[in-house]
Amino acid sequence: MFLPVFTSGICVFDFEGFDSYEGKARDDEIIDGLFNLPEVVKEKNVIDAQGGRSLSTVHLYKTHIIPELLNFKQSPLGVWILHKIVESAVLLGLDKSRDVRKLKYYRTWANRMYKNCDAVAHRHAVAGSTIPHLVAIYYLEVPEDSAQLIFIDDNNYEIMRGGRYHEYAAHQQFVVPPKAGRLVCHDARALHATSVHESHLPRTCLIIEVGFPPLQ
Ligand SMILES: [Fe+2]
Repeated sequence: MFLPVFTSGICVFDFEGFDSYEGKARDDEIIDGLFNLPEVVKEKNVIDAQGGRSLSTVHLYKTHIIPELLNFKQSPLGVWILHKIVESAVLLGLDKSRDVRKLKYYRTWANRMYKNCDAVAHRHAVAGSTIPHLVAIYYLEVPEDSAQLIFIDDNNYEIMRGGRYHEYAAHQQFVVPPKAGRLVCHDARALHATSVHESHLPRTCLIIEVGFPPLQ
């Protein structure tokens, strides 16, 4: 579903079989394995994650490619995500200038957020960036009182990083409640943050940055 958000929009989809698709247990094991890697456990929070602990595999994006690890080309989850990314690219109008069927992964990683953590407002691309064009967030674990995803009305595309969500007025915020099995696709230049994660249980998501070649 396309939702207008300020001057742009986002796409939100829910994977019906999120909890029971074939291969789910294996996928969970692989993701948990990533968060147990010493090079992930030892790594400090990424700069965007404040207030509480978070784990991320973003620094391993060249060697630990999520769509390969989770066999996106064949798994029901991966096929669904890829399909929805292409659908989102069309809904966001990227197909007018790009060949959205020739999707290329840029960085892909997993994030796990713990109590009291929030994500500072950020973009994945700024004015002049060539890639990525679209960012997909897939939520794996979303306990009650999880951090909400918040898009922020700020069209200064020069800045990669903004403030924490509470520094923006309520009318500048568009809240998207995450839930397990939900995929949110947005223009890579859309500024977004999260509220504070208030659960004792972790909140886990995959982040998939993609680009598309220009139309021939
Ligand atoms: Fe983000």
